[in-house]
Amino acid sequence: MSKRRILSGMRPTGPLHLGHLLGALENWVKIQDTYESFFMIADWHALMSEYKNPEGIKKNIMNMTADWISCGLDPEKCTIFVQSEVPEHLELAMVLSDITPLAWLERCPTYKEQLREMKSRDLTTYGFLGYPVLQASDILIYKAESVPVGEDQLAHLELTREIVRRFNKLYKKKILIEPHPLLTKTPRILGLDNRKMSKSYGNYIALSDPPGEIEKKAGSMITDPERIKKNDKGHPDICNVYSYYKLFGPSFIKEVYGYCTGAEVGCTECKKRLAGLLIGRLNGIRKKRETLLSDKKGIRRILDEGAKRARAIASKTIKEVKRAVGIA
Ligand code: TRP
Ligand code: SF4
Repeated sequence: MSKRRILSGMRPTGPLHLGHLLGALENWVKIQDTYESFFMIADWHALMSEYKNPEGIKKNIMNMTADWISCGLDPEKCTIFVQSEVPEHLELAMVLSDITPLAWLERCPTYKEQLREMKSRDLTTYGFLGYPVLQASDILIYKAESVPVGEDQLAHLELTREIVRRFNKLYKKKILIEPHPLLTKTPRILGLDNRKMSKSYGNYIALSDPPGEIEKKAGSMITDPERIKKNDKGHPDICNVYSYYKLFGPSFIKEVYGYCTGAEVGCTECKKRLAGLLIGRLNGIRKKRETLLSDKKGIRRILDEGAKRARAIASKTIKEVKRAVGIA
């Protein structure tokens, strides 16, 4: 029996951080063994918000590929490719945009939220309104059965399913299939300042951060505000440092809980030890990443091969779609 197919993607808008590792990559690495997996670098989606300063996108694509592979994605097992290198995505997006009612896009919660929150970018554009249409196309062009995503993407997936139903009803052909979300159930990791870990807040630890930087960042984390001196008893359950221990050093949590509530070890020392854990965790990834990035041609070959494999499928789907809508 052939494996079921999945597709997921990320936008190359900046360095990957611990949130990406726990929220997506670790899951992708497991998935690649059981599914026919496509992992896409969504550069057209990146351009939707970065169009005024697009210089970083190309570099981010190389870095993202290196990060993905360093974290365990294996180009022999899965297909890694760049969205813009498979032009069929845009062709299908054109067709889908014809049949997607404006109201579906205008009421999309992510659209409204981004307009409200991304004040540093002018997102009142035609392209950005169509963000979920292109995302639907990314998924549908491969007839992916499932899409590993976090909760924040569920609305886009539901919209994708609605578009499929509309397409199949209009053209009386079951060419496109409704994808299911494969929800990643990882606990959300907060940023250094206790807000959501995000590039725009600058409160993240990047997978590429050197040890000194990790120490500095861990040292800047907010702890139990009531624990000012070492002999104040702490409350690990409200401390973000403690939640990092749960994620990155579960075998130490008993000890940390004990010395924190017993006022035996201070926060500075506790954070130093955490930094040690994080450095250990990211060391292998960083080394692999450096090796990969020292051979840019090698990365290019992986992406070329990925685009070739992706196009083989995408070109078939677009032919079927064009025939169904009466364009070919
Ligand atoms: N919107 C996704 C994000 O911001 C990225 C993305 C683009 C994507 N196309 C996709 C994710 C297709 C899953 C499937 O994270
Ligand atoms: Fe947080 Fe550690 Fe300080 Fe306790 S000792 S409050 S867990 S940083």
